[in-house]
Amino acid sequence: MMTEFTSQRLAMSPLRVEDADEMFAVLDDPALHEFIGGQPATLEELGVRYAELVAGSGLPSEEWFNWIVRRRTDAVAIGYVQATVTSEQHAEIAWVIGTPWQRNGYATEAARAMVDWLTERGVGEIVASIHPDHVASNMVAANIGMHSTDEIDDGETVWTTAKSGPTWPRWP
Ligand SMILES: CC(C)(COP(=O)(O)OP(=O)(O)OC[C@H]1O[C@@H](n2cnc3c(N)ncnc32)[C@H](O)[C@@H]1OP(=O)(O)O)[C@@H](O)C(=O)NCCC(=O)NCCS
Repeated sequence: MMTEFTSQRLAMSPLRVEDADEMFAVLDDPALHEFIGGQPATLEELGVRYAELVAGSGLPSEEWFNWIVRRRTDAVAIGYVQATVTSEQHAEIAWVIGTPWQRNGYATEAARAMVDWLTERGVGEIVASIHPDHVASNMVAANIGMHSTDEIDDGETVWTTAKSGPTWPRWP
């Protein structure tokens, strides 16, 4: 079950559909899409997307976890972290921090806390696909103890927490 967890400065709260209003302002920024592609969602699109995410995959073999990253001092939403967990207890994770709050170590702090949360719940290998030119995201992955593999996923390098990789079997 998805629960809230905290780190020193942040609280990761399970995504709710009503978070769309606040998150629209955080995510309405083309700069966030430089390496992940696409473009910012409209408010309506974000609401639809959040309803889908909250509903879940509908598959017993795949669970979706999404948390809003909030500053503990004032509960302001500054980004999100997410994990897709398979029944084999493999997870794929991602992180986004809004531009005004970047370069404060927040992505590293939130991602590290998420990896701890997943690991405590029995998740084994955790992977992330990261554009090779995305310096900040590569540094986040390295900061939290992941290492890059030779595996390429749609132009992105697969990083893993596994001691020796790549071992991650892609799910269907
Ligand atoms: C990737 C992202 C989440 C990083 O957020 P952040 O909160 O700024 O990350 P951190 O502050 O933890 O920074 C991690 C490292 O990258 C460095 N860094 C951050 N932004 C940087 C930039 N624009 N250029 C160079 N280095 C940068 C930091 O200095 C830090 O270095 P350190 O570990 O040596 O101190 C943020 O840039 C983002 O949301 N980008 C758009 C969405 C995206 O591409 N997400 C990745 C999907 S997996």
